[in-house]
Amino acid sequence: MKISKRLQKIAEMVKYPTVADIGTDHGHLPIYLAQRGSADKLLATDANAGPLGRARRNIAEAGLSHRVQTRLCDGLDGVNPAEYAACVISGMGGGLIINILRQNLPRAQNFRQLLLSPQRDVACVRRFLHQCGFRIDDEEMLEEKGVFYNILDASPGNEAPYDEKGYVFGDVLLRKRPDALKIFVKSELEKARKIERRDFQEYLQLCEEALRCL
Ligand SMILES: C[S@@+](CC[C@H](N)C(=O)[O-])C[C@H]1O[C@@H](n2cnc3c(N)ncnc32)[C@H](O)[C@@H]1O
Repeated sequence: MKISKRLQKIAEMVKYPTVADIGTDHGHLPIYLAQRGSADKLLATDANAGPLGRARRNIAEAGLSHRVQTRLCDGLDGVNPAEYAACVISGMGGGLIINILRQNLPRAQNFRQLLLSPQRDVACVRRFLHQCGFRIDDEEMLEEKGVFYNILDASPGNEAPYDEKGYVFGDVLLRKRPDALKIFVKSELEKARKIERRDFQEYLQLCEEALRCL
């Protein structure tokens, strides 16, 4: 199955053979993981009947109904971390990802790996993880069709807080220095230079600081 570069990168980052994909929509990620043979127990959930129906049809067409379970449920309700070591929540806003984790925090803290790919408010997700007993083990950033995507690989635990640019751009990324981050920071810098507002002046300074690390 052909999937987006973003979902392919998420699939590569999965460390465990039991995976729950929360808010699966089309079901592309669990189908890809099952076809690749890198997962032996998969769950695809969605809070909405339409997307879950779409996932069920795609899973059936791929001949994988016996390998990928589906469930209509809100966030982590009814998802047991004892059954699934890795939990993926991707393709949603950071605020929604935070709400899903916050609603079932003790459960979220029992997954061995959380792979989170917020489409916006990534800094809020990084802050939330540190405030709620998670460490960020790895992070990837990629660009696809002109859009930048972050993928955070977190697990239960603690680590030293980041400085402001670490939360805004990703401490791990600032150390790994991927090309996508360099391009992103440069374009943010260009945008911030055109805006006179005070809060943008602070952001501009952060972009300049980040660029010096890259
Ligand atoms: C844009 S799609 C992302 C699909 C896929 N995860 C991806 O990364 O391409 C977001 C999906 O999240 C589902 N969703 C929204 N809120 C949810 C919640 N609280 N629990 C589970 N799924 C939710 C929506 O119904 C939708 O199918």
